[in-house]
Amino acid sequence: SRIRHYKFNVVLKNTTRLCSTKPIVTINGRFPGPTLYAREDDTVLVKVTNHVKYNVSVHWHGVRQLQTGWADGPAYITQCPIPPGQSYVYNFTITGQRGTLLWHAHILWLRATVHGALVILPKRGVPYPFPAPHKEVNVILAEWWKSDTESVINQAMSSGLAPNVSDAHTINGHPGPVANCSSQGGFTLPVESGKTYLLRIINAALNEELFFKIAGHKLTIVEVDATYVKPFKTDTIVIAPGQTTNALITANQKSGKYLVAASPFMDSPIAVDNLTATATLHYSGTLATTSTTLTNPPPQNATQVANNFINSLKSLNSKKFPAKVPLKIDHNLLFTVGLGINPCPTCKAGNGSRVVASVNNVTFVMPTTALLQAHVFNISGVFTTDFPGNPPNTFNFSGGPPANASMATTNGTKLYRLAYNSTVQLVLQDTGTIAPENHPVHLHGYNFYSVGRGVGNYNPKKDPKKFNLVDPVERNTVGVPSGGWAAIRFQADNPGVWFLHCHLEVHTTWGLKMAFLVDNGKGPNESVLPPPSDLPKC
Ligand code: C2O
Repeated sequence: SRIRHYKFNVVLKNTTRLCSTKPIVTINGRFPGPTLYAREDDTVLVKVTNHVKYNVSVHWHGVRQLQTGWADGPAYITQCPIPPGQSYVYNFTITGQRGTLLWHAHILWLRATVHGALVILPKRGVPYPFPAPHKEVNVILAEWWKSDTESVINQAMSSGLAPNVSDAHTINGHPGPVANCSSQGGFTLPVESGKTYLLRIINAALNEELFFKIAGHKLTIVEVDATYVKPFKTDTIVIAPGQTTNALITANQKSGKYLVAASPFMDSPIAVDNLTATATLHYSGTLATTSTTLTNPPPQNATQVANNFINSLKSLNSKKFPAKVPLKIDHNLLFTVGLGINPCPTCKAGNGSRVVASVNNVTFVMPTTALLQAHVFNISGVFTTDFPGNPPNTFNFSGGPPANASMATTNGTKLYRLAYNSTVQLVLQDTGTIAPENHPVHLHGYNFYSVGRGVGNYNPKKDPKKFNLVDPVERNTVGVPSGGWAAIRFQADNPGVWFLHCHLEVHTTWGLKMAFLVDNGKGPNESVLPPPSDLPKC
């Protein structure tokens, strides 16, 4: 194992997309940001220096951060943000993980432009459990707004209304040729006939689950969220914000150009967003004038296409990489996740009301002191540990807004306490108070097993009988289906304060977030390590 040093300078950079230019917050002037490479067991030190007017923090999404919550990154959860002019060194060791993850800003809406790939290679000399690819290519999907993204969300929060949807999706920073701004080409993926490539596909979009497909080629899925899966072939993948997917693609044509398409997956009836980002798979030796073989992206509400993909995901569950699903459960939790409407006298545009989001009817209030500090140093008055483990109100989700559910929310900075090493089953239930919505829910500090999912109300008597406890996919971000539920299991073997939230940034901003407090264990390696001396202060 090695120590790897990175310097991340947070700087503004004028960037042109869709024929207009705006200053964006970047790392080292790049959009998407630089790729961070490490091997399993390496220690990574990233010195982040803030040269912009915003407070910043950076999250290494999916890195377990065993005992090192101080390096996790969510502002006011595990650290105070880095103020303008200051630096902080994120110092963490990658233990027992290899694969593709992402890093991103974890404050305000800076993630829109502050994100990049985090590639963890296996230990030196250890092969992949699939044929070695000729080359590896990062494919980062994101969104682009013509206006400043901070003003987009500020405007939404003061009006009480939903924010504007993005003006384009992007593949490696580019929307691809767009009708009214055709001068800009898109990302080109050069391939040689007969060779196999590993695509490390990352959804860094703020608010959109996406379909991804390539004309004329099948994808063999080998890994998601930096965990190996049983390989399977597919035309289309579905990927939620925060998720990553590794796919092998064999260039089995002689020549030609083939369209690569990333398009929205959203089965909510209230949201419409038809923008498709495109790139080109380009065989070497193909003339620039050759026309591109096209492909039709699935319709936006192609739930069945998404389900087919998600249901195909299984842990590799080999001798080397066994699935270790907790079988005996200490905490049996059910969290409702959803949107609601609360009064807001100052929200003129919203007619005196605003959209809110909640988990078990609690709209999370961001503290002004970091929760991990408050926990470790016993600072009282920052949070309470009375987060409800089950819905406080009965709900009945039957395909439309639930008639008899009380979705009024209370505000609070409430945590749910877990004893070190206890086992957890958590069912996440969408409640479509306004309308059913997808929720890609991300848990910090852990991987979990996605043991079951379904539509309608979760049935605690019947549904667990159908759980996959043998080879369920292991991930860090699970898609709660629109108007349905997803069940996950994990063992609380990482002490600290760990954020759980919807990875649709707008839902997080509205309050769809909470945190687990995991106690220290009694053993020598079972406590949160002391904080680094340069930890920013609030
Ligand atoms: Cu990728 Cu808390 O986020």
